[in-house]
Amino acid sequence: MITIKSQREIALMREAGCLAAQTLDMIAAYIKPGVSTEELNQICHDFIVSHDAYPAPLNYKGFPKSICTSVNEVICHGIPSEQVILKDGDIINIDVTAIKHGYHGDTNRTYFVGEPSPEVRQLVEFTHEVTMKAISIVRPGIRVGDIGHLIQTEAEARGYGVVREFTGHGLGRKFHEPPSIYHYGKPGTGAKIRKGMTFTIEPMINLGSHELHVLDDGWTAVTNDGKWSAQFEHSIAVTDDGYEILTLSA
Ligand code: MF3
Ligand code: CO
Ligand code: CO
Repeated sequence: MITIKSQREIALMREAGCLAAQTLDMIAAYIKPGVSTEELNQICHDFIVSHDAYPAPLNYKGFPKSICTSVNEVICHGIPSEQVILKDGDIINIDVTAIKHGYHGDTNRTYFVGEPSPEVRQLVEFTHEVTMKAISIVRPGIRVGDIGHLIQTEAEARGYGVVREFTGHGLGRKFHEPPSIYHYGKPGTGAKIRKGMTFTIEPMINLGSHELHVLDDGWTAVTNDGKWSAQFEHSIAVTDDGYEILTLSA
């Protein structure tokens, strides 16, 4: 069942979302060649906990760490590790979900480690732009398929692959609630968007094919062709005539 949030609940989600965004602001200074993804995990964990919140991924369905760190050909759900050391030219997505006052705020960004290749820079910049463009069409009355169609059309026109296996999702008291927000689809189809719904939009866009597999650790999703993948994510609330981004730091 899709839950409709009250103004009071949306205010609490704004607080959780703001903290998640501030975590992403804070961690940017630490993303440099030589740092391990476990160090980034520890810094984010301490920041979240010190703000009277809890990192939702930790122990979620057995996930062992507090954030997801997805480097280069890792699409999502990368597990922080002392063995994964960033190097110049890499890209890394950091996905933070904070629980505060019982409500979730879920957001991610893809960062450059030093200077990426031009084609990778274009991929990351495009993925951010298409995420914001998809958010901008949200208002009561549109359908989930309208969001997916916009993202798929723009990505495929540039020859990029759109990941199918992972979607945006409703969130609130739960980390993942209905509806699923597909990043591909047909206009005018799927669940109708209504005022008070809260959900994420978080397209994963690949330089090559959309096909993926999950590693033996049960979490890490990587591209089948080894080409790199980018992602951005915001949590949003549907308002009377549009949307509010809940995961802004300012
Ligand atoms: N934050 C991710 C999302 O955007 C979910 C991570 S689940 C975890 O939905 F267990 F891998 F942390
Ligand atoms: Co999410
Ligand atoms: Co997330």
